[in-house]
Amino acid sequence: MKKVGILNSGGDCSGLNAVIASIVKTGTDLGYQFVGFEKGWEGVLSPMMYRPLGRPEVRGISYLGGTILGTVNKGRFGAKAAEGGGRRIPDAVLQEAKQNLQAIGVDGLIVIGGDGTLAGAEQLCQMGVKIVGVPKTIDNDLSATDRTFGFSTAAQVVVDALDRIHTTASSHGRVILVETMGRHTGWIALRAGLAGGAHAILLPEFEFELAKLVEYLRRRQRQGKASVVVVAEGAKVGGASVAEVLTAEQEVHLGGVSGYLMRQLEMAAPGEFEMRNTVLGHVQRGGTPNSADRVIAKSYGCEAIKAYHRGEFGKVVVYNHLHMSLEPLDACVGSLKRVTCDTMEYVTAQDLGIFMH
Ligand code: F6P
Repeated sequence: MKKVGILNSGGDCSGLNAVIASIVKTGTDLGYQFVGFEKGWEGVLSPMMYRPLGRPEVRGISYLGGTILGTVNKGRFGAKAAEGGGRRIPDAVLQEAKQNLQAIGVDGLIVIGGDGTLAGAEQLCQMGVKIVGVPKTIDNDLSATDRTFGFSTAAQVVVDALDRIHTTASSHGRVILVETMGRHTGWIALRAGLAGGAHAILLPEFEFELAKLVEYLRRRQRQGKASVVVVAEGAKVGGASVAEVLTAEQEVHLGGVSGYLMRQLEMAAPGEFEMRNTVLGHVQRGGTPNSADRVIAKSYGCEAIKAYHRGEFGKVVVYNHLHMSLEPLDACVGSLKRVTCDTMEYVTAQDLGIFMH
């Protein structure tokens, strides 16, 4: 009986457990055994961290947020690829992973991750390890696939918050800035801002003019209206994103753009607006997946183990035009899907007079 390893790496998101459970359930029926590697790629390096995964271990986990395997978005296998920062993982590290897998009789891997994780998977695959990939990011910005699991839930968290923000903004006649995740792309901000009735939506893809935003907010205020501004964490104020170095290892985190923008607005229009900001942060990543994400996560999992069974290694499952199919692993590496002026939600937001830039 072949033993297949399941590994998730990078930031968590709702739906990961549903992917894992679906791989195990479908794969068990196909005659496979499974082990789950813990803490991402770290689990396949020495000292290895893994445990058997069978039907009993995955029973009842599909509706749970997070991942039963744990995860990290840094470590010895780090291979960030998104913004041209591709890194070659040292051969010694790749060899160690390959030998460790052989030592415990693992035939190959199903790897669930974003561009960095799948860049690592591709390099290991080139060394002869059998790998099928599943794309993962709440940001929904991998160019090879229309939809990643976790995105819909994250957007819904933002919409729920906006519904609440509207009432308090309007009671006080305030301008409230709501900061969402979205490092390089604004899919969460755009979808949630449109669904949640934001008056302005600021995305990393479009540089906006502060003076124009001030004028827009003034106009609304003259009409006696409060304003809710959704701003993606990677949005650029004055052409630059707002970031801070958080750790001794020089880890750069985006975030704080809503507070920064609030101060810029105050400087541009002193005393004119009463403003507050809310940073939604990791509530967008946590918690139970909604129905859309559960279904797509389950399909990703089933398709991945079926692809493995057919021997389609070096490929990643993608979901386009309402169908699951396979692409080479590198389709998910190094190129992001960005919001453009043709994006349906962007066009609709423009049609509705929402301030975008
Ligand atoms: O890439 C997904 C993402 O959720 C980004 O939107 C966000 O900037 C980042 O992960 C935060 O990651 P963490 O806080 O786990 O390092």
